Parts: sequence; C-alpha cells; structure tokens
Amino acid sequence: GAPVEIDLEPIAEGQLVKLFWRGQLVFIRHRTAEEIKAAEDVNLSTLRDPQPDSARVKPNRTQWLVVYGNCTHLGCVPLSHQGEYKGWFCPCHGSVFDTSGRVRGGPAPINLPIPPYAFVSDTKVVIG
Ligand code: FES
Repeated sequence: GAPVEIDLEPIAEGQLVKLFWRGQLVFIRHRTAEEIKAAEDVNLSTLRDPQPDSARVKPNRTQWLVVYGNCTHLGCVPLSHQGEYKGWFCPCHGSVFDTSGRVRGGPAPINLPIPPYAFVSDTKVVIG
C-alpha cells in the first residue's frame, strides 16, 4: 500500500510504462500533442461516461495520462495505441478507449479509472 515514486524523465513522448501499485496495474502514458488534442476535442455528449479530458489529467501536465490498466468490462489488459481512437483496444471483447482512457466502444461500462497521484516535480510523480 505504500506510495510509488516514478521518474518520468526516461519516458519518451508517445511511450507508455506499466507499473503495479497495491497489486493493480497502472499505465503512465506520455501523450503526443496530437493525442492530447484528440482527447480534448471530443464532443462530450457522444461519450458513454462523459468526462472532459481536463478532469482526467493535471493542469499544465496534460501530456501525462495516468490510468488503471485493466479493462472496465472484465479486467483484461487493453493494448495501447490501438483501436479506432489509438488509445487502447481490449482484445478480450473489443472495448475501445481513446487517448484519455475513456470508453468509446465495446462492452466496457466506464472509463479507465484514475488512481490517486501527484507530481512532486516536473519529472517525478507519486502514485498513492
Ligand atoms: Fe475488455 Fe471485455 S474485458 S472488453
């Protein structure tokens, strides 16, 4: 249950890292400018679980998306940078997530949840 500190410096734009916190898979994704824009430009009325991208990232750190890494349908691990929105695609039953981790198709009922985390510097984040 202890908090985990992650050095963001080695995570290049476009990359994703996986880690475990409290036994749960967490993704940290360094989003590109295009991925951020795609996440911000969505008409919220089209979303199953409507949340603006701004509610899912930290102000001035919008390049960093931190989400739990299990599909909200039945818990498989979705594949990043795949699917119609190049967010994630879940190979189990075809759920599709966008670059904000919001569900955009398939059986998943809700967005990928956000774990508790905070930036302790420009290049360090603490999960938990
Ligand atoms: Fe991901 Fe079913 S577990 S779509």
